[in-house]
Amino acid sequence: MMALPLVELHLHIEGTLEPELIFELAARNNVTLPWASLDELRAQYEFSDLSSFLDLYYRNLDVVRERVDFADLTRAYLKRAAAGGVRHAEIFFDPQAHTSRGIPLATALGGVHDALANSAAEFGVSTKLIVTFLRDRPAAEALAILRQILAGDVADGVTIDGIGLDSAEVGYPPSLFTEVFELARANGLHVVAHAGEEGPPAYVWEALDLLKVERIDHGIRSLEDDALVERLVAERIPLTVCPLSNVRLRVIDTLADHPLLGMLERGLLVTVNSDDPAYFGGYVDENMAALTAEFDLDAAQLALLARNGIEASFLTAAEKAALAEEVDTWVQAQA
Ligand code: HPA
Ligand code: ZN
Repeated sequence: MMALPLVELHLHIEGTLEPELIFELAARNNVTLPWASLDELRAQYEFSDLSSFLDLYYRNLDVVRERVDFADLTRAYLKRAAAGGVRHAEIFFDPQAHTSRGIPLATALGGVHDALANSAAEFGVSTKLIVTFLRDRPAAEALAILRQILAGDVADGVTIDGIGLDSAEVGYPPSLFTEVFELARANGLHVVAHAGEEGPPAYVWEALDLLKVERIDHGIRSLEDDALVERLVAERIPLTVCPLSNVRLRVIDTLADHPLLGMLERGLLVTVNSDDPAYFGGYVDENMAALTAEFDLDAAQLALLARNGIEASFLTAAEKAALAEEVDTWVQAQA
């Protein structure tokens, strides 16, 4: 049976680094890990909040060093995504998670690009690349990296499609990055930002009003502010929601408590995504399966989520129409 064609819009490539690959890259690069076994590493995947997760996420990246490592990481994700029905992925990449530990931007970005360049042909997954800046580091650093990328002197022919904002949210409001986002927009890049994951609705307002973002990543705390919900609905601003991430980072208690269905009922343009699947227990198809099991979703609801992902993507109208037809075909096969 044909898998439901999916679009992934909230996926940190660094968050697809599986424990097995951590051990493989450690051996390849002669890195001594603090964990004696896979089980010992897996025992660390118990998070109390966003920052407890980010500590491990940044630490594990120590094994990813050479251009080929970045390409292998990205290829492993694309292969897994394709197996789960993903037809298009807009991938986040954190330059500062690598430059801050001495990896040249050309090595990291070049390796990711090597894998993405072959993705459509090799895996049947079209891609876009969104560079995300760490909001708990200085905006000046983000600006310098963006300028370097825009100047085209990072690695042979590597271009990006957009920028975003991630990492520790509370205390680092979007307003700090107004100039960075202005420069990105002036250069025709798409703009998105994490907001309203752990941070308050005020951060979502700032992301819209000051950064002028096209999508909000997470955004589930928007539900605390009716005027904000009205605005998101009226302007059809997509929210890239990540249900399994929300549970694992204790943004909500259990999947049964997830507000996804209520968000859809209020008319929000909600999409389902995986965030950091190697850490949160599932790729996007597994997020969809968990929701289906928890809320008994039917084919029409699953198709709506798939169509929302298509609409919220940065694909062209023709590309969106072609993918929407694949969803129609899937729906007909369910009947
Ligand atoms: N939130 C913020 N920053 C991140 C995340 C997340 O879920 N994953 C990777 N960086
Ligand atoms: Zn995220």
